[in-house]
Amino acid sequence: MSSPSDRLDTRVCVVGLGYVGSCIAASLWLAGAEVVGVDTDPGLIRDFNDGHCRIREPGLPELMAKGLASGRLTVTTGYDAVGSAGTVIVTVGTPIDETGAFAETQLRAACEELGRRVRPGQLLVFKSTVPPGTTRDLVIPLLERGGLVCGEDVAVAFCPERLSEGSALAELQTLPVVVGGLGPADAAAAERFWRGSLGVEVIRCSSLEAAETVKLADNWWLDHNIALANELARYCASIDVDVLEVIAAANSIPKGSGNVNILLPSVGVGGSCLTKDPWMIARAARANGVELRTVPTARQVNDAMPAYTAGLILDELARSSTGGDPFKVAVLGVAFKNNTGDLRATPVLPVVRALRAAGAEVALFDPLADEGEVAAVFGTPPAPSLDDAIGGADCLALLAWHDEFSAIDLGLLRERVARSCLIVDGRAYLPRSTITRLQELGFLYRGIGR
Ligand SMILES: NC(=O)c1ccc[n+]([C@@H]2O[C@H](COP(=O)([O-])OP(=O)(O)OC[C@H]3O[C@@H](n4cnc5c(N)ncnc54)[C@H](O)[C@@H]3O)[C@@H](O)[C@H]2O)c1
Repeated sequence: MSSPSDRLDTRVCVVGLGYVGSCIAASLWLAGAEVVGVDTDPGLIRDFNDGHCRIREPGLPELMAKGLASGRLTVTTGYDAVGSAGTVIVTVGTPIDETGAFAETQLRAACEELGRRVRPGQLLVFKSTVPPGTTRDLVIPLLERGGLVCGEDVAVAFCPERLSEGSALAELQTLPVVVGGLGPADAAAAERFWRGSLGVEVIRCSSLEAAETVKLADNWWLDHNIALANELARYCASIDVDVLEVIAAANSIPKGSGNVNILLPSVGVGGSCLTKDPWMIARAARANGVELRTVPTARQVNDAMPAYTAGLILDELARSSTGGDPFKVAVLGVAFKNNTGDLRATPVLPVVRALRAAGAEVALFDPLADEGEVAAVFGTPPAPSLDDAIGGADCLALLAWHDEFSAIDLGLLRERVARSCLIVDGRAYLPRSTITRLQELGFLYRGIGR
């Protein structure tokens, strides 16, 4: 086997420069690699080269700009750089279609391009989340179309990406990388790459399929655990108990290799991963005659949270209403979770739709989300400033609580909002002392399960 050499080749090509690919490209550049990012979206590449980073990840625009200015990080729509890279990392999108089936178009197209260009000695790392068996049954045959043999001429590994948006850059420096190789030599090459480039811990799996399943298991667990937290929250609300107090105490006993770890309830689960990956494993299991009944249950529980949150807002406003003008709701944070500007499958959208359907006037504000994208997704542009959004509001709905918001003293907004303004906490998890102070100032407060 003409295996990748023991000396780390620091020329890396990252294929697919979305959330994951651009964070990986920038991080590898920072770690000293010479990186070429390839993406078939010419607008994205033009934006990067014009100094604009569409991907709203904290720290990423600055890092991309530095990398691009250094000349050791370049971005392009062409695949030519593949030939001169020691390692190629694939991070294209792997969505599911409306029937729940894996939409392989992006991965297939990328592998067809790679199949024409790979050369002996290269390491090919696949990071996009896929149904188990995809690397062996779809990716490898496409790579081998050019005549090279995977596992002999080129090394192939599946290393699932497990970063969280909002803390992606830090996590890339610290999260252990799971590695599954086509064979032991492929896994060894991938392990050498991750240890040598990002210096992170590596967890070896014995097969491609095990590594593919790890990612889906992680997100199945997350979605399921959040569903538990959401149901617990709804129950706690019904008995007037603060769910955060219950969770903090419940999480104090050791179980397994850690503690009980109930996650936090919220306005809902969104983003491009947790809304898709549980369905991906459920479908893969069904194809093998195994029915994963917890998957649809957790998905239903989490999908019901935006309607629950909208109901909470409307019920409280109706209770304190004197009739007359439509309610004004200022939504602070429209992204799918804290500290990202990503609007994909944001649970804030169904909340806003339900409020509008009930006749409320809704103003939107999010310092991390792109203005044009907010207008496209929500049908109205965001308010230009916090002050514009909250003027005369009957309700401040805190639905994605970015770190930038934490600097706001909500008490100081008292004069700008309606007299008995309601604060609905969908993801800010305000501490008890802050809630008490806000109540003393005349605000009403409701949280999810609080
Ligand atoms: N976003 C996350 O937080 C996250 C976390 C962990 C894992 N993942 C997984 O990582 C993968 C990528 O996710 P993402 O959020 O970065 O997706 P994304 O949609 O933001 O990015 C995918 C990029 O690939 C590009 N692309 C599509 N076809 C291409 C081709 N043939 N050649 C080159 N580029 C191509 C697209 O233009 C796009 O820019 C997915 O499998 C996802 O499930 C995502």
